[in-house]
Amino acid sequence: MIVTVAEKAGACYGVNRALELALGCQDAPQPVHTLGPLIHNPLVVASLAEQGVFEAANLDEAGSGTVVIRSHGTGPQLIEEAERRGFNVIDATCPFVSKVQQHAAELGRQGYAVVIVGEAGHAEVEGIRAWGGSAVLAVVEEPEELPAALPPKVGVVVQTTQSEERYQRVLAALEQRCEEVRAFKTICSATQMRQRAAAELAAASDVMVVIGGRNSGNTRRLVEVCQASCPTYHVESAAELQPEWFAPHSRVGVTAGASTPQAHIDAVTSALEALA
Ligand code: F3S
Repeated sequence: MIVTVAEKAGACYGVNRALELALGCQDAPQPVHTLGPLIHNPLVVASLAEQGVFEAANLDEAGSGTVVIRSHGTGPQLIEEAERRGFNVIDATCPFVSKVQQHAAELGRQGYAVVIVGEAGHAEVEGIRAWGGSAVLAVVEEPEELPAALPPKVGVVVQTTQSEERYQRVLAALEQRCEEVRAFKTICSATQMRQRAAAELAAASDVMVVIGGRNSGNTRRLVEVCQASCPTYHVESAAELQPEWFAPHSRVGVTAGASTPQAHIDAVTSALEALA
């Protein structure tokens, strides 16, 4: 068995930064809670709890002390509310997500109706929606979801983990139907690079293993990309690997979502090499 790890795989800048900020809270007012899971990776969330960084669903559950805003970000109202209630707030919003939030807010101030290309209900998208406020016209993944009536001036931002193709489809439809479109292509290159590297590796592999949380959207997208080329297994940890997935001389490709730490990739590759 030959095991190859994709050229770009695993934890991105924003996730590593959020982990460092959360783990650097030892001297901050206690207890320390993240509002929702810090990142979409249950194993990492469990390990954070062992190190004194707990998950709370909301400010009431956190009670007091420090709250960490996760890498997906949140709306400005929640941050203001936390500060008003005396919490120490550590903002671990990925700077690329902050940029999308700022664009949404600015477009609204400039009189544009804002269209967010993204997955409604996803934490990052709901945070962006809150920053855009009443200027947000719609959250769509495809042009067919756009409202029947559109105002003349429309601004567009896109969830950092969306695909370029989807963004271009929505943009093209808006440009046909609106007088003025101001668009910000806020897709994060970390996601694109991981998808491209995964596609290339999957095309040259007999089987792919994708590591990451089952609740991680970008990990699930990597699974889809790999499935287009070869059988693909999604695991959260090395313990889930099944020997029968691999023939003796398989070329096994490994990739991992942007919320998967390097240690998890190392553990899976070691376990695969042990099977060889
Ligand atoms: Fe940030 Fe991009 Fe990662 S938006 S959290 S660096 S995938």
